[in-house]
Amino acid sequence: MKTILITGATGNVGREVIRALHARGGAVIRAGMRDVARAAPDLAAFDGIELMVFDFADPHTYAPALAGCDALFLLRPPQVTDAFGKLVSQAKAAGVGHIVFLSVQGAENNRFIPHHKTEELLRRSGVPFTLLRPAYFTQNFTTTLHEDLARRHRVFVPAGRARFTLIDVRDIGDVAAVVFLDPGPRHHGQAYALTARYRLNFQQMVDQLSAGLGVPITYVSPSPWRFFWTKRRENLPTGFILIMTLLHYLPRFAAEPPLSPAVTKLLGREPTEFAQFVAENRAALL
Ligand SMILES: NC(=O)c1ccc[n+]([C@@H]2O[C@H](COP(=O)([O-])OP(=O)(O)OC[C@H]3O[C@@H](n4cnc5c(N)ncnc54)[C@H](OP(=O)(O)O)[C@@H]3O)[C@@H](O)[C@H]2O)c1
Repeated sequence: MKTILITGATGNVGREVIRALHARGGAVIRAGMRDVARAAPDLAAFDGIELMVFDFADPHTYAPALAGCDALFLLRPPQVTDAFGKLVSQAKAAGVGHIVFLSVQGAENNRFIPHHKTEELLRRSGVPFTLLRPAYFTQNFTTTLHEDLARRHRVFVPAGRARFTLIDVRDIGDVAAVVFLDPGPRHHGQAYALTARYRLNFQQMVDQLSAGLGVPITYVSPSPWRFFWTKRRENLPTGFILIMTLLHYLPRFAAEPPLSPAVTKLLGREPTEFAQFVAENRAALL
């Protein structure tokens, strides 16, 4: 049975990877986290998983977490700037035979996306790897965009009419589980863009939110400056606001990202569409 270390285990995606692996069985799941005592209650539903201290910022935690691991789910937390050279070489030395890296759709074509460097590092590492390149998370509406949505019934991002590819993080978890549990090497060296079947602009997303939640939601697309200063007044960290600005503003001037059949091919079912996400997450959205 494979032992798989999951980094970012307490976050949106890591938790879904654990859920999907746990539901399928057939692997020892080791959840890596900075604060085991804080995270334990939240992961208690997944009986039998190992909880292990793991901190990207503390290389002393790498070896114990990697000991005896066959595979690694590698995620780049937004606040971590490292490209993971030390971690990948320690994983290789520990005998890890497969790294699945959570990248970003389009990272292969854009050197300014920090995930690009990690993709390159993995290609050079000699460790078999699989790249998951997800689109915009529908769960952004229950996390980063949630306060505006729940408190003001509005979506406030400088995205204009740009159309986004979307993905439900539950689908990312299922894909990661399929990739990890495949007994052979067919996913090694592969990169999978993960998108639902339709692109939507924010007005279309907001229309679906209003219909699904039964509450009128307004879409406001401010200028980047107004967005920045509004979020500063809400005391959000500057780095986070800049990422949010770029993430939503730049797609207005870029080619539309492609749709990908990878989720359907890997899971044998259609990806979760936005309306379904809304219907299934009513309580978390409002
Ligand atoms: N949002 C999108 O639309 C989107 C789209 C494509 C790709 N992505 C990529 O997805 C990734 C974010 O995934 P997510 O939404 O699951 O993240 P998240 O919910 O913000 O979770 C981040 C995780 O990283 C952990 N973490 C933070 N600092 C750490 C450290 N120093 N050492 C160990 N663990 C640490 C956090 O654990 P603690 O409990 O210790 O804080 C948490 O489990 C990013 O790489 C982002 O670029 C996002």
